[in-house]
Amino acid sequence: MRDVTVSLHRDLAIGETDRRLFGAFVEHLGRCVYGGIFEPDHPTADAHGFRRDVLALVRELAPTIVRYPGGNFVSGYNWEDGVGPAANRPRRLDLAWMSTETNQFGTNEFIQWCREAGIEPMLAVNLGTRGADAARSLVEYCNHPGGTALSELRRSHGWDEPHAVKFWCLGNEMDGPWQMEAKTAQEYGRIATEAAKMMKWVDPTIELAACGSSGRNMPTFGAWEDTVLEHTFDHVEYISLHTYINNYASDTGAFLASPDLMDRFIDEVVAIADAVAARRRSPKRIMLSFDEWNIWYRTRRTPQDRVKPGWPVAPPILEEIYNLADALAFGGMCISLLNHADRVKVACLAQLVNVIAPIMTATGGAAWRQTIFWPFAHFSNFGRGRVLRARIDSPTYAATYYDPRGAQDLHFALPAVPFVKLAAVHDEQSSALTVFVLNRSLTEEMPLQVRLDGFMQVSVDRAMQLHDADLEAVNTEASSQRVRPMPLAVQMGNGAVSTTLRPASWNVIRLKTS
Ligand code: AHR
Repeated sequence: MRDVTVSLHRDLAIGETDRRLFGAFVEHLGRCVYGGIFEPDHPTADAHGFRRDVLALVRELAPTIVRYPGGNFVSGYNWEDGVGPAANRPRRLDLAWMSTETNQFGTNEFIQWCREAGIEPMLAVNLGTRGADAARSLVEYCNHPGGTALSELRRSHGWDEPHAVKFWCLGNEMDGPWQMEAKTAQEYGRIATEAAKMMKWVDPTIELAACGSSGRNMPTFGAWEDTVLEHTFDHVEYISLHTYINNYASDTGAFLASPDLMDRFIDEVVAIADAVAARRRSPKRIMLSFDEWNIWYRTRRTPQDRVKPGWPVAPPILEEIYNLADALAFGGMCISLLNHADRVKVACLAQLVNVIAPIMTATGGAAWRQTIFWPFAHFSNFGRGRVLRARIDSPTYAATYYDPRGAQDLHFALPAVPFVKLAAVHDEQSSALTVFVLNRSLTEEMPLQVRLDGFMQVSVDRAMQLHDADLEAVNTEASSQRVRPMPLAVQMGNGAVSTTLRPASWNVIRLKTS
Protein backbone atom coordinates (compact mmCIF):
# COMPACT_ATOMS: atom_id res chain seq x y z
CA MET A 1 0.00 0.00 0.00
CA ARG A 2 1.34 3.41 -0.95
CA ASP A 3 0.35 6.55 0.95
CA VAL A 4 -1.18 9.62 -0.61
CA THR A 5 -0.90 12.97 1.15
CA VAL A 6 -2.75 16.14 0.27
CA SER A 7 -2.57 19.61 1.78
CA LEU A 8 -5.21 22.28 1.59
CA HIS A 9 -5.23 25.80 2.98
CA ARG A 10 -8.44 27.75 3.49
CA ASP A 11 -6.93 30.87 1.88
CA LEU A 12 -5.40 29.25 -1.18
CA ALA A 13 -8.11 29.03 -3.79
CA ILE A 14 -8.32 28.47 -7.55
CA GLY A 15 -11.63 30.29 -7.84
CA GLU A 16 -15.32 30.27 -7.07
CA THR A 17 -17.52 27.78 -8.91
CA ASP A 18 -20.08 29.49 -11.12
CA ARG A 19 -23.63 28.19 -10.62
CA ARG A 20 -23.71 27.30 -14.31
CA LEU A 21 -20.79 24.87 -14.04
CA PHE A 22 -23.33 22.21 -13.11
CA GLY A 23 -25.39 22.21 -16.30
CA ALA A 24 -26.79 19.52 -18.60
CA PHE A 25 -28.11 19.22 -22.14
CA VAL A 26 -31.40 18.25 -23.77
CA GLU A 27 -31.32 17.72 -27.54
CA HIS A 28 -34.03 16.62 -29.95
CA LEU A 29 -32.21 13.33 -30.33
CA GLY A 30 -33.55 9.82 -29.85
CA ARG A 31 -35.65 9.53 -26.67
CA CYS A 32 -34.19 12.52 -24.83
CA VAL A 33 -37.21 14.79 -25.33
CA TYR A 34 -39.95 12.38 -26.51
CA GLY A 35 -40.19 9.51 -24.03
CA GLY A 36 -37.62 11.22 -21.82
CA ILE A 37 -38.67 14.54 -20.33
CA PHE A 38 -41.92 14.75 -22.36
CA GLU A 39 -44.39 11.89 -22.63
CA PRO A 40 -48.01 13.08 -22.41
CA ASP A 41 -49.41 9.51 -22.27
CA HIS A 42 -47.17 8.44 -19.39
CA PRO A 43 -48.98 7.63 -16.10
CA THR A 44 -46.88 10.25 -14.26
CA ALA A 45 -47.31 13.00 -16.90
CA ASP A 46 -48.47 16.39 -15.64
CA ALA A 47 -50.82 18.79 -17.45
CA HIS A 48 -47.96 19.84 -19.76
CA GLY A 49 -47.04 16.27 -20.66
CA PHE A 50 -43.85 16.29 -18.57
CA ARG A 51 -42.91 13.05 -16.84
CA ARG A 52 -43.05 13.71 -13.11
CA ASP A 53 -40.90 10.68 -12.31
CA VAL A 54 -38.15 12.14 -14.54
CA LEU A 55 -38.59 15.60 -13.02
CA ALA A 56 -38.08 14.09 -9.55
CA LEU A 57 -34.80 12.47 -10.64
CA VAL A 58 -33.70 15.68 -12.39
CA ARG A 59 -34.25 17.63 -9.15
CA GLU A 60 -32.17 15.07 -7.28
CA LEU A 61 -29.41 15.25 -9.92
CA ALA A 62 -29.57 19.06 -9.59
CA PRO A 63 -28.39 20.46 -12.93
CA THR A 64 -28.50 24.27 -12.80
CA ILE A 65 -28.76 25.19 -16.48
CA VAL A 66 -29.83 23.11 -19.51
CA ARG A 67 -28.73 23.63 -23.11
CA TYR A 68 -31.39 23.15 -25.82
CA PRO A 69 -32.36 22.16 -28.59
CA GLY A 70 -28.99 20.80 -29.85
CA GLY A 71 -26.39 19.69 -30.61
CA ASN A 72 -26.23 18.64 -34.23
CA PHE A 73 -30.02 18.95 -34.41
CA VAL A 74 -29.93 22.74 -34.06
CA SER A 75 -27.99 23.17 -37.31
CA GLY A 76 -31.11 22.26 -39.31
CA TYR A 77 -33.77 23.57 -36.91
CA ASN A 78 -36.42 26.19 -37.71
CA TRP A 79 -37.41 27.51 -34.29
CA GLU A 80 -40.69 28.76 -35.76
CA ASP A 81 -41.75 25.12 -36.34
CA GLY A 82 -41.84 24.52 -32.58
CA VAL A 83 -44.05 27.39 -31.40
CA GLY A 84 -47.79 28.07 -31.63
CA PRO A 85 -50.67 25.58 -31.54
CA ALA A 86 -49.19 22.07 -31.44
CA ALA A 87 -51.73 20.75 -33.98
CA ASN A 88 -50.42 23.18 -36.61
CA ARG A 89 -46.75 22.35 -36.21
CA PRO A 90 -45.02 20.67 -39.15
CA ARG A 91 -43.38 17.26 -39.14
CA ARG A 92 -39.89 17.50 -40.61
CA LEU A 93 -36.99 15.25 -41.50
CA ASP A 94 -34.11 15.77 -39.08
CA LEU A 95 -30.89 15.24 -41.01
CA ALA A 96 -28.72 15.21 -37.89
CA TRP A 97 -30.14 11.94 -36.55
CA MET A 98 -32.15 10.72 -39.58
CA SER A 99 -35.41 10.88 -37.64
CA THR A 100 -38.80 12.54 -38.02
CA GLU A 101 -39.26 15.59 -35.81
CA THR A 102 -42.91 16.13 -34.84
CA ASN A 103 -42.29 19.53 -33.21
CA GLN A 104 -44.78 18.74 -30.45
CA PHE A 105 -42.15 20.06 -28.05
CA GLY A 106 -40.49 23.40 -28.78
CA THR A 107 -39.01 26.50 -27.18
CA ASN A 108 -42.02 27.39 -25.00
CA GLU A 109 -42.44 23.83 -23.74
CA PHE A 110 -38.73 23.81 -22.90
CA ILE A 111 -39.03 27.07 -20.94
CA GLN A 112 -42.06 25.66 -19.09
CA TRP A 113 -40.16 22.47 -18.28
CA CYS A 114 -37.15 24.47 -17.01
CA ARG A 115 -39.42 26.45 -14.70
CA GLU A 116 -40.95 23.29 -13.27
CA ALA A 117 -37.50 21.78 -12.80
CA GLY A 118 -36.04 24.98 -11.29
CA ILE A 119 -33.41 25.18 -14.04
CA GLU A 120 -32.04 28.10 -16.08
CA PRO A 121 -32.59 27.66 -19.84
CA MET A 122 -29.69 27.99 -22.33
CA LEU A 123 -30.59 28.23 -26.01
CA ALA A 124 -28.50 27.47 -29.10
CA VAL A 125 -29.25 29.19 -32.42
CA ASN A 126 -28.99 27.62 -35.85
CA LEU A 127 -25.89 28.93 -37.65
CA GLY A 128 -25.90 25.97 -40.04
CA THR A 129 -28.88 26.13 -42.40
CA ARG A 130 -29.98 29.50 -40.98
CA GLY A 131 -28.05 32.54 -39.80
CA ALA A 132 -28.00 35.90 -38.06
CA ASP A 133 -31.54 36.86 -39.09
CA ALA A 134 -33.22 33.77 -37.60
CA ALA A 135 -31.00 34.09 -34.53
CA ARG A 136 -31.98 37.69 -33.79
CA SER A 137 -35.63 36.81 -34.43
CA LEU A 138 -35.51 34.06 -31.81
CA VAL A 139 -33.97 36.48 -29.28
CA GLU A 140 -36.75 38.95 -30.05
CA TYR A 141 -39.43 36.25 -29.74
CA CYS A 142 -38.04 35.08 -26.40
CA ASN A 143 -36.73 38.19 -24.69
CA HIS A 144 -38.47 41.30 -26.04
CA PRO A 145 -41.28 42.45 -23.72
CA GLY A 146 -43.91 43.27 -26.37
CA GLY A 147 -45.13 45.67 -29.05
CA THR A 148 -43.38 44.00 -32.01
CA ALA A 149 -44.60 41.24 -34.29
CA LEU A 150 -42.34 38.57 -32.78
CA SER A 151 -42.82 39.54 -29.13
CA GLU A 152 -46.57 39.77 -29.66
CA LEU A 153 -46.44 36.35 -31.34
CA ARG A 154 -44.95 34.95 -28.13
CA ARG A 155 -47.65 36.69 -26.12
CA SER A 156 -50.32 35.25 -28.39
CA HIS A 157 -48.82 31.83 -27.65
CA GLY A 158 -49.62 32.33 -23.97
CA TRP A 159 -46.36 33.84 -22.71
CA ASP A 160 -47.08 37.38 -21.61
CA GLU A 161 -43.75 37.94 -19.90
CA PRO A 162 -40.42 37.55 -21.74
CA HIS A 163 -38.52 34.30 -21.19
CA ALA A 164 -35.39 36.30 -20.24
CA VAL A 165 -32.99 33.70 -21.63
CA LYS A 166 -29.55 34.94 -20.68
CA PHE A 167 -27.07 32.46 -22.15
CA TRP A 168 -26.97 31.68 -25.90
CA CYS A 169 -24.75 29.39 -27.99
CA LEU A 170 -23.78 30.65 -31.45
CA GLY A 171 -24.43 27.39 -33.30
CA ASN A 172 -22.99 23.96 -32.58
CA GLU A 173 -19.75 22.19 -33.60
CA MET A 174 -19.48 24.21 -36.79
CA ASP A 175 -15.99 22.74 -37.42
CA GLY A 176 -17.37 19.19 -37.82
CA PRO A 177 -17.94 17.75 -41.32
CA TRP A 178 -20.99 15.92 -39.85
CA GLN A 179 -22.66 19.27 -39.15
CA MET A 180 -25.32 20.61 -41.52
CA GLU A 181 -23.58 23.48 -43.33
CA ALA A 182 -20.25 23.06 -41.51
CA LYS A 183 -17.91 26.00 -41.94
CA THR A 184 -14.29 26.97 -42.04
CA ALA A 185 -13.08 29.01 -39.08
CA GLN A 186 -13.10 32.16 -41.25
CA GLU A 187 -16.65 31.53 -42.46
CA TYR A 188 -17.92 30.72 -39.00
CA GLY A 189 -16.06 33.62 -37.39
CA ARG A 190 -17.77 36.08 -39.73
CA ILE A 191 -21.27 34.63 -39.34
CA ALA A 192 -20.94 34.29 -35.57
CA THR A 193 -19.82 37.92 -35.30
CA GLU A 194 -22.77 39.23 -37.30
CA ALA A 195 -25.24 37.02 -35.40
CA ALA A 196 -23.73 38.13 -32.07
CA LYS A 197 -23.98 41.82 -32.96
CA MET A 198 -27.61 41.55 -33.98
CA MET A 199 -28.63 39.33 -31.05
CA LYS A 200 -27.11 41.81 -28.61
CA TRP A 201 -28.71 44.76 -30.35
CA VAL A 202 -32.06 43.07 -29.64
CA ASP A 203 -31.11 42.29 -26.03
CA PRO A 204 -27.83 43.74 -24.70
CA THR A 205 -28.10 41.75 -21.46
CA ILE A 206 -27.49 38.34 -23.07
CA GLU A 207 -24.22 36.40 -22.95
CA LEU A 208 -22.83 34.51 -25.93
CA ALA A 209 -20.61 31.49 -26.49
CA ALA A 210 -18.79 31.04 -29.80
CA CYS A 211 -18.16 27.48 -31.00
CA GLY A 212 -14.72 26.16 -30.21
CA SER A 213 -13.50 22.88 -31.65
CA SER A 214 -15.80 19.91 -31.31
CA GLY A 215 -12.91 18.04 -29.73
CA ARG A 216 -9.23 18.34 -28.89
CA ASN A 217 -8.66 15.56 -31.41
CA MET A 218 -9.93 17.62 -34.36
CA PRO A 219 -7.19 18.34 -36.94
CA THR A 220 -8.09 22.05 -36.85
CA PHE A 221 -8.02 22.33 -33.04
CA GLY A 222 -6.07 25.38 -31.93
CA ALA A 223 -6.09 27.18 -35.26
CA TRP A 224 -9.91 27.09 -35.15
CA GLU A 225 -10.11 28.79 -31.72
CA ASP A 226 -7.53 31.38 -32.73
CA THR A 227 -9.31 32.41 -35.93
CA VAL A 228 -12.81 32.29 -34.45
CA LEU A 229 -11.77 34.46 -31.50
CA GLU A 230 -9.94 36.89 -33.79
CA HIS A 231 -13.35 37.52 -35.37
CA THR A 232 -15.64 37.30 -32.35
CA PHE A 233 -13.48 38.53 -29.45
CA ASP A 234 -15.35 41.82 -28.94
CA HIS A 235 -18.79 40.23 -29.25
CA VAL A 236 -18.72 37.10 -27.08
CA GLU A 237 -18.02 36.21 -23.47
CA TYR A 238 -17.30 32.49 -23.93
CA ILE A 239 -15.71 29.94 -26.23
CA SER A 240 -17.10 26.39 -26.13
CA LEU A 241 -15.31 23.07 -25.60
CA HIS A 242 -16.69 19.55 -26.19
CA THR A 243 -15.19 16.25 -25.02
CA TYR A 244 -16.43 12.67 -25.01
CA ILE A 245 -13.96 10.22 -23.52
CA ASN A 246 -13.90 6.52 -24.39
CA ASN A 247 -12.69 3.09 -23.46
CA TYR A 248 -12.56 1.69 -27.02
CA ALA A 249 -9.23 0.06 -26.23
CA SER A 250 -10.62 -1.73 -23.12
CA ASP A 251 -7.70 -0.21 -21.23
CA THR A 252 -9.36 0.97 -18.03
CA GLY A 253 -6.16 2.46 -16.59
CA ALA A 254 -5.84 4.73 -19.64
CA PHE A 255 -9.57 5.45 -19.60
CA LEU A 256 -9.39 6.65 -15.98
CA ALA A 257 -6.30 8.70 -16.84
CA SER A 258 -8.02 10.43 -19.77
CA PRO A 259 -9.79 13.16 -17.74
CA ASP A 260 -6.27 14.61 -17.35
CA LEU A 261 -6.45 15.37 -21.08
CA MET A 262 -9.53 17.45 -20.32
CA ASP A 263 -7.33 19.51 -17.97
CA ARG A 264 -4.85 19.93 -20.80
CA PHE A 265 -7.58 20.88 -23.27
CA ILE A 266 -8.85 23.59 -20.90
CA ASP A 267 -5.34 24.95 -20.32
CA GLU A 268 -4.72 25.07 -24.06
CA VAL A 269 -7.97 26.89 -24.88
CA VAL A 270 -7.27 29.39 -22.07
CA ALA A 271 -3.80 29.98 -23.54
CA ILE A 272 -5.20 30.58 -27.04
CA ALA A 273 -7.96 32.90 -25.78
CA ASP A 274 -5.45 34.86 -23.74
CA ALA A 275 -3.06 35.05 -26.70
CA VAL A 276 -5.85 36.63 -28.76
CA ALA A 277 -6.42 39.09 -25.89
CA ALA A 278 -2.69 39.81 -25.71
CA ARG A 279 -2.47 40.60 -29.43
CA ARG A 280 -5.16 43.23 -28.86
CA ARG A 281 -3.61 44.46 -25.59
CA SER A 282 -7.03 43.70 -24.10
CA PRO A 283 -7.70 43.10 -20.39
CA LYS A 284 -10.85 41.15 -21.35
CA ARG A 285 -10.76 37.45 -20.51
CA ILE A 286 -12.83 35.03 -22.56
CA MET A 287 -14.30 32.40 -20.27
CA LEU A 288 -14.90 28.75 -21.18
CA SER A 289 -18.23 27.03 -21.72
CA PHE A 290 -17.63 23.26 -21.62
CA ASP A 291 -21.09 22.76 -23.03
CA GLU A 292 -20.79 19.07 -23.97
CA TRP A 293 -18.87 16.57 -21.87
CA ASN A 294 -19.40 12.92 -21.02
CA ILE A 295 -18.36 9.38 -21.86
CA TRP A 296 -19.57 8.09 -25.22
CA TYR A 297 -18.22 5.23 -27.28
CA ARG A 298 -20.34 2.07 -27.19
CA THR A 299 -23.11 3.68 -29.22
CA ARG A 300 -20.92 6.01 -31.22
CA ARG A 301 -19.27 4.11 -34.05
CA THR A 302 -21.82 1.49 -34.95
CA PRO A 303 -24.23 2.96 -37.55
CA GLN A 304 -27.26 1.07 -36.14
CA ASP A 305 -26.73 2.72 -32.75
CA ARG A 306 -26.76 6.15 -34.33
CA VAL A 307 -29.41 5.81 -37.02
CA LYS A 308 -32.52 3.63 -37.35
CA PRO A 309 -33.99 3.09 -40.82
CA GLY A 310 -37.34 4.52 -41.95
CA TRP A 311 -37.11 8.03 -40.42
CA PRO A 312 -38.66 7.00 -37.08
CA VAL A 313 -39.92 9.40 -34.41
CA ALA A 314 -37.74 9.35 -31.26
CA PRO A 315 -35.81 6.13 -32.03
CA PRO A 316 -33.78 4.53 -29.22
CA ILE A 317 -30.34 5.74 -30.30
CA LEU A 318 -27.19 6.63 -28.32
CA GLU A 319 -28.63 4.76 -25.32
CA GLU A 320 -25.28 4.10 -23.70
CA ILE A 321 -25.47 1.86 -20.63
CA TYR A 322 -22.87 3.08 -18.15
CA ASN A 323 -20.91 0.78 -15.87
CA LEU A 324 -18.92 1.47 -12.73
CA ALA A 325 -15.68 2.16 -14.66
CA ASP A 326 -17.57 4.85 -16.59
CA ALA A 327 -18.78 6.43 -13.36
CA LEU A 328 -15.17 6.61 -12.14
CA ALA A 329 -13.88 8.24 -15.32
CA PHE A 330 -16.87 10.56 -15.20
CA GLY A 331 -15.96 11.53 -11.61
CA GLY A 332 -12.47 12.36 -12.90
CA MET A 333 -14.06 14.73 -15.44
CA CYS A 334 -16.04 16.44 -12.63
CA ILE A 335 -12.74 16.97 -10.77
CA SER A 336 -11.14 18.47 -13.90
CA LEU A 337 -13.99 20.96 -14.22
CA LEU A 338 -13.85 21.95 -10.55
CA ASN A 339 -10.10 22.49 -10.68
CA HIS A 340 -10.59 25.01 -13.50
CA ALA A 341 -13.33 27.02 -11.81
CA ASP A 342 -11.40 30.21 -12.50
CA ARG A 343 -11.95 29.92 -16.28
CA VAL A 344 -14.63 27.28 -16.91
CA LYS A 345 -17.79 29.10 -15.91
CA VAL A 346 -20.35 26.99 -17.72
CA ALA A 347 -20.46 23.24 -18.38
CA CYS A 348 -23.17 20.89 -19.64
CA LEU A 349 -23.24 17.17 -19.09
CA ALA A 350 -24.36 15.73 -22.44
CA GLN A 351 -27.07 14.68 -22.15
CA LEU A 352 -29.82 14.41 -19.52
CA VAL A 353 -32.25 11.57 -20.24
CA ASN A 354 -31.86 8.33 -22.28
CA VAL A 355 -29.31 9.72 -24.76
CA ILE A 356 -25.81 9.21 -23.25
CA ALA A 357 -27.52 10.13 -20.02
CA PRO A 358 -27.50 9.80 -16.23
CA ILE A 359 -31.26 9.11 -16.23
CA MET A 360 -32.87 6.27 -18.19
CA THR A 361 -36.55 5.63 -18.83
CA ALA A 362 -38.73 2.94 -20.28
CA THR A 363 -41.30 4.57 -22.54
CA GLY A 364 -44.56 4.13 -20.63
CA GLY A 365 -42.61 2.63 -17.71
CA ALA A 366 -40.07 3.37 -15.01
CA ALA A 367 -37.19 5.86 -14.72
CA TRP A 368 -33.90 5.03 -13.01
CA ARG A 369 -30.40 6.31 -12.25
CA GLN A 370 -27.40 5.19 -14.31
CA THR A 371 -24.01 4.80 -12.58
CA ILE A 372 -22.87 8.27 -13.74
CA PHE A 373 -25.85 9.82 -11.98
CA TRP A 374 -24.02 9.57 -8.67
CA PRO A 375 -20.81 11.51 -9.33
CA PHE A 376 -22.81 14.22 -11.09
CA ALA A 377 -25.26 14.53 -8.18
CA HIS A 378 -22.32 14.82 -5.76
CA PHE A 379 -20.55 17.33 -8.02
CA SER A 380 -23.63 19.52 -8.38
CA ASN A 381 -24.99 19.30 -4.87
CA PHE A 382 -21.66 19.68 -3.06
CA GLY A 383 -19.46 21.52 -5.59
CA ARG A 384 -20.67 25.06 -4.90
CA GLY A 385 -18.09 27.38 -3.33
CA ARG A 386 -14.37 28.18 -3.53
CA VAL A 387 -12.22 25.46 -5.07
CA LEU A 388 -9.06 25.13 -3.01
CA ARG A 389 -5.67 24.62 -4.62
CA ALA A 390 -4.66 21.14 -3.46
CA ARG A 391 -1.07 20.00 -3.18
CA ILE A 392 -1.18 16.29 -3.92
CA ASP A 393 1.59 13.81 -3.37
CA SER A 394 0.50 10.58 -5.06
CA PRO A 395 2.31 7.70 -6.74
CA THR A 396 1.87 7.72 -10.51
CA TYR A 397 1.46 5.33 -13.44
CA ALA A 398 1.97 5.57 -17.18
CA ALA A 399 -0.86 5.24 -19.70
CA THR A 400 -1.54 5.68 -23.40
CA TYR A 401 -5.02 6.82 -24.29
CA TYR A 402 -6.52 5.92 -27.65
CA ASP A 403 -8.82 8.58 -29.10
CA PRO A 404 -9.89 8.04 -32.69
CA ARG A 405 -11.73 10.63 -34.70
CA GLY A 406 -12.72 9.89 -38.30
CA ALA A 407 -9.80 8.44 -40.20
CA GLN A 408 -7.32 9.52 -37.54
CA ASP A 409 -5.98 7.08 -34.96
CA LEU A 410 -4.65 9.20 -32.12
CA HIS A 411 -2.65 7.93 -29.16
CA PHE A 412 -1.93 10.29 -26.28
CA ALA A 413 0.95 9.41 -23.95
CA LEU A 414 0.34 10.15 -20.28
CA PRO A 415 3.67 9.23 -18.66
CA ALA A 416 2.94 10.21 -15.03
CA VAL A 417 -0.72 9.95 -14.07
CA PRO A 418 -1.25 10.43 -10.30
CA PHE A 419 -3.29 7.47 -9.01
CA VAL A 420 -5.29 9.91 -6.92
CA LYS A 421 -7.17 12.77 -8.61
CA LEU A 422 -8.80 15.21 -6.21
CA ALA A 423 -10.69 18.50 -5.86
CA ALA A 424 -11.75 20.31 -2.70
CA VAL A 425 -14.52 22.91 -2.47
CA HIS A 426 -15.11 25.15 0.52
CA ASP A 427 -18.56 26.67 0.88
CA GLU A 428 -18.27 29.42 3.51
CA GLN A 429 -22.03 30.00 3.56
CA SER A 430 -22.93 26.48 4.60
CA SER A 431 -19.62 25.94 6.47
CA ALA A 432 -18.91 22.86 4.39
CA LEU A 433 -15.71 21.56 2.89
CA THR A 434 -16.13 18.75 0.34
CA VAL A 435 -13.26 16.63 -0.90
CA PHE A 436 -13.91 14.68 -4.13
CA VAL A 437 -11.39 11.87 -4.62
CA LEU A 438 -10.87 9.35 -7.42
CA ASN A 439 -8.59 6.38 -6.79
CA ARG A 440 -7.48 5.24 -10.25
CA SER A 441 -5.52 2.25 -9.08
CA LEU A 442 -7.39 -0.84 -10.22
CA THR A 443 -5.70 -3.08 -7.67
CA GLU A 444 -4.37 -1.05 -4.73
CA GLU A 445 -6.01 0.44 -1.71
CA MET A 446 -4.60 3.91 -1.05
CA PRO A 447 -4.32 5.33 2.46
CA LEU A 448 -5.15 9.03 2.08
CA GLN A 449 -4.36 11.85 4.47
CA VAL A 450 -5.65 15.38 3.78
CA ARG A 451 -4.03 18.13 5.89
CA LEU A 452 -6.35 21.07 6.51
CA ASP A 453 -4.74 24.39 7.31
CA GLY A 454 -6.37 27.72 8.13
CA PHE A 455 -9.59 26.24 9.54
CA MET A 456 -10.51 26.76 13.20
CA GLN A 457 -12.44 23.55 13.62
CA VAL A 458 -13.27 20.70 11.31
CA SER A 459 -15.51 17.70 11.90
CA VAL A 460 -16.84 14.95 9.69
CA ASP A 461 -20.35 15.41 8.35
CA ARG A 462 -20.59 12.32 6.13
CA ALA A 463 -18.52 10.39 3.64
CA MET A 464 -19.43 8.01 0.83
CA GLN A 465 -17.82 5.88 -1.82
CA LEU A 466 -18.84 4.38 -5.14
CA HIS A 467 -17.12 1.05 -5.55
CA ASP A 468 -17.95 -2.43 -6.82
CA ALA A 469 -15.78 -5.50 -7.14
CA ASP A 470 -17.06 -5.66 -10.72
CA LEU A 471 -16.03 -2.66 -12.81
CA GLU A 472 -18.63 -3.71 -15.37
CA ALA A 473 -21.53 -3.45 -12.90
CA VAL A 474 -24.48 -1.46 -14.26
CA ASN A 475 -27.90 -0.26 -13.09
CA THR A 476 -30.89 -1.52 -15.03
CA GLU A 477 -34.65 -1.16 -14.72
CA ALA A 478 -34.77 -4.49 -12.89
CA SER A 479 -31.71 -3.81 -10.76
CA SER A 480 -31.68 -0.04 -10.41
CA GLN A 481 -29.80 0.09 -7.10
CA ARG A 482 -26.88 -2.19 -7.99
CA VAL A 483 -24.39 0.68 -8.17
CA ARG A 484 -24.99 3.35 -5.55
CA PRO A 485 -22.93 5.20 -2.93
CA MET A 486 -22.09 3.39 0.29
CA PRO A 487 -20.68 4.86 3.52
CA LEU A 488 -16.93 5.50 3.71
CA ALA A 489 -15.12 5.36 7.06
CA VAL A 490 -13.02 8.49 7.73
CA GLN A 491 -11.10 9.72 10.77
CA MET A 492 -10.21 13.23 11.97
CA GLY A 493 -7.11 14.00 14.00
CA ASN A 494 -4.10 16.32 14.17
CA GLY A 495 -5.56 18.76 11.67
CA ALA A 496 -6.05 16.12 9.02
CA VAL A 497 -8.77 13.85 7.72
CA SER A 498 -7.75 10.36 6.73
CA THR A 499 -9.27 7.31 5.13
CA THR A 500 -8.37 4.31 3.03
CA LEU A 501 -9.54 4.54 -0.56
CA ARG A 502 -10.70 1.27 -2.10
CA PRO A 503 -9.14 0.40 -5.46
CA ALA A 504 -11.07 1.89 -8.40
CA SER A 505 -13.33 4.08 -6.29
CA TRP A 506 -15.05 7.48 -6.31
CA ASN A 507 -15.12 9.05 -2.86
CA VAL A 508 -16.79 12.12 -1.38
CA ILE A 509 -15.89 13.43 2.07
CA ARG A 510 -18.12 16.15 3.53
CA LEU A 511 -16.65 18.12 6.42
CA LYS A 512 -18.15 20.80 8.66
CA THR A 513 -15.86 23.77 9.09
CA SER A 514 -15.58 26.94 11.11
O1 AHR B 1 -24.41 14.85 -27.73
C1 AHR B 1 -24.46 14.15 -28.93
C2 AHR B 1 -23.85 14.94 -30.09
O2 AHR B 1 -22.47 15.04 -29.87
C3 AHR B 1 -24.30 16.36 -30.25
O3 AHR B 1 -25.47 16.48 -30.99
C4 AHR B 1 -23.15 16.98 -30.98
O4 AHR B 1 -23.02 18.35 -30.71
C5 AHR B 1 -21.94 16.16 -30.54
O5 AHR B 1 -21.19 15.75 -31.62
